[in-house]
Formats: sequence, C-alpha cells, structure tokens
Amino acid sequence: MTGGAGFIGSNFIRFIFQSGGFKGRVINIDKLTYAGNAESLADVQAAQGDRYVFERIDICDFDAVKNCLVKYDVDCIVHFAAESHVDRSIHGPAEFIQTNIVGTFNLLEVCRQVWNGRNDVLFHHVSTDEVFGSLGAEGYFYETTPYDPRSPYSASKASSDHIVNAYFHTYGMDITMSNCTNNYGPYQFPEKLIPVMLLNMLEDKPLPVYGDGMNIRDWLYVIDHCSGIWAIVCGGRLGETYNIGGENEWTNIDLVNRMCELTAEKTGKDKDHYKKLITYVKDRPGHDRRYAIKCDKIKNELGWKQSVTFDAGLSLTIDWYLNNQAWTDSIKSGEYLRWVDKNYGGRA
Ligand code: NAD
Ligand code: DAU
Repeated sequence: MTGGAGFIGSNFIRFIFQSGGFKGRVINIDKLTYAGNAESLADVQAAQGDRYVFERIDICDFDAVKNCLVKYDVDCIVHFAAESHVDRSIHGPAEFIQTNIVGTFNLLEVCRQVWNGRNDVLFHHVSTDEVFGSLGAEGYFYETTPYDPRSPYSASKASSDHIVNAYFHTYGMDITMSNCTNNYGPYQFPEKLIPVMLLNMLEDKPLPVYGDGMNIRDWLYVIDHCSGIWAIVCGGRLGETYNIGGENEWTNIDLVNRMCELTAEKTGKDKDHYKKLITYVKDRPGHDRRYAIKCDKIKNELGWKQSVTFDAGLSLTIDWYLNNQAWTDSIKSGEYLRWVDKNYGGRA
C-alpha cells in the first residue's frame, strides 16, 4: 500500500482486514505529508500486530522503495499515494507533478527491477474521474472516454495513468487501474467539501460554496470505493481500467443544504440553523462543472455494487465526525504534525 495514512488508504486497510477476507500482511508506505495521519490506523496496528507494518517512505525515493519491496517480498502494490486536493494544486502545482507523476514513475521503475520476470505480482493504480474533464448537462464518463484533464491535479493524475498503462504495454507489467468519483466518509481531511462544511457547522462558521453552487459531483461512500478496488485487485483483468462511481449526482448547494438539515437533526438545532451560514464565495479557477460516471464494467465483470445509500452514508459520516472530534481537533491544532515530529523527527 502506498498512501495508506490518507483518507481512502486508511479506510482500505481497515476494509481488507475486516471484510475483505485478506490473509496476508500490509506494508503501508507513506511520506506523512500534511494529509497523512498515522494515528488514523492506530486501531489497525493494535488489532493486527505484525500483519500491519508502517514505513515512512517517500514514493519518490527509489532506494527506500526498492529496499522495502525486497525486505518484505511485496507481491502487490495498491497505489493510493498522491497529492489529492484540487485547490492546493492550483496554488502550488509542483508537489503534484513530483508525487503524482515522478513518484508513480519511480514506483513502476522499482517494480520493473525487483519483479523482473515474475507473473504473480500486481500493481494497482488508484485514479480519479477528473482525468476525463468536465461534463455538460448530459452524458457520462466511460472507461473509453478520452482524457481531458483541466486542473494541475487532474493533469498529474492523467499523466500517471498514461505511464502505468505504458508499463503494461511496453514492459508487460501486471497492472490494473481504477478511476473513481468523489468519495466521502470517515477520516477525510478537513479541506474537502463534506468535512469542511461539517466542521464549520459545528463552529457556526460560514459555509463557503464556490461560484453559483451548481457544480455537480457524483458521491460514493468510501467503503464502496474500497470494495471496488479490492474486487479489481482480486479478479480484475490485467491491463484493464475500471470506473467506480456512486451514480449519485448532487449539485454542491443541494448537498450542503441536505447536510445542514441532517446535522441540525443530530445536534438538536432548528432545521434552518446551519443553512443561514451558507455563503457564496469566489469560484475555483477552471472549476469542472459536472462529473458523472458509468460503472457497468466493474458491476458486470466483477459483480461489484454499492452497499451504502447516500442518506445512510451521509448520516454515518456526520456521526463519525461528531463522535471523533479528537481526530479533527488534532488536525486543527496541528497536534498530529507534532506527533510526527516526535515519532519521526520532522516532516519529510
Ligand atoms: P489523501 O490526500 O487523503 O491521502 C494521500 C496520502 O498519500 C497521505 O497519507 C499522504 O501522506 C500520502 N503521500 C502524499 N505524497 C506522498 C509521497 N510522495 N510518498 C508517500 N506518500 C505520500 O488522498 P485520498 O483522498 O485518500 O486519495 C487517495 C488516492 O485516491 C489518490 O491517488 C487520489 O487521486 C485518488 N482518488 C481520490 C478520490 C477522493 O474523492 N478523495 C476519488 C478518486 C480517486
Ligand atoms: O472526482 C474525484 C475527485 O474528488 C478526487 O480525485 C479528488 O482527490 C477529490 O479531492 C475530489 O475533488 P473535488 O475537487 O471534486 O473535491 P472537493 O471536495 O475539493 O470539492 C467538491 C466540490 O465542492 C467542488 O465542486 C468544489 C466545491 N467546494 C469545495 C470546497 C472545499 C465548495 O463549494 N466549497 C469548498 O469549501
């Protein structure tokens, strides 16, 4: 696993141990950037003992990654590690080019050296629907939709997808890929829409909606993304990419209103209490208008389907943030960074 201390990676590790029937050992390599929080996996560490190993490694560091692959005789990489936030990519694209493109290339090169000639290995690359660009009111992204990335983040992910694909065709490396829509759920860093809104509600702060609030995203509960990736790792066809999606489109403003209602119910506030905090703010530059994915391929070939409805998932997510304020407090106060300093002698 790369990037296992992040939002989806940490959920994936928990998922495969708890529900995936996984019998092996997870080696989680993560640089612990601002988005990584090793504490998110403290429960896994306690429950799994030496079946879960954490190694603080930058995927751009060839020797460190190579030593790790050899030391643990790794036979499968599920590659989550990335800079993942579109707004940050607009303000500072360099890290996105470095980790998402150079880092992915570096991992592939290590695998090519270490796995040379083996056909019992797999590199699964986790990617995004944002590589396909922006939709108008009609249409969907299919696996065959031409790439048209428009932010530094999506361009860097698109580039990494192409490089992974090239290693399949050129070197015969055993790869699979997935492109997924917007995830939500526990342990999401409070810079993405749903946790930002939720945490601001709890502090009665303005809820910043970009532009006219009519941009559309297709939301999937994170555990359903994890089960999709696991289905591909276990049974996907080599060289293939699979779309994973929620088939669950919401305008941002409708979603924020729904969150306001649900959170008000849970915190005993008046129905409109949080809605009054909604504030329209300057739009994100190049803001993609609509994402929507068709994911019949993974359903038909691998029997994957979603297990969590949106209302249930949103309710679970709000409950998680309400019940785990220590996790968000540690991020808000910077305590989680100090924890890394103490345990690893500073940020990488
Ligand atoms: P995240 O930002 O929460 O976590 C990223 C993790 O990668 C962090 O733990 C971070 O420390 C680690 N990392 C960053 N740079 C690294 C480096 N150079 N070396 C080692 N580790 C590094 O991201 P996320 O939301 O969990 O996304 C995980 C993957 O899924 C990404 O590849 C992203 O593009 C993809 N994805 C995300 C979504 C979504 O809605 N969040 C949807 C589709 C695809
Ligand atoms: O589609 C998959 C992608 O989803 C992933 O590849 C990315 O890693 C992930 O970050 C996410 O990208 P988005 O840009 O769609 O997510 P974000 O949560 O940043 O924004 C969701 C929508 O909400 C988007 O239209 C911008 C808007 N927004 C976001 C924030 C943070 C707001 O209106 N206000 C906000 O404060």
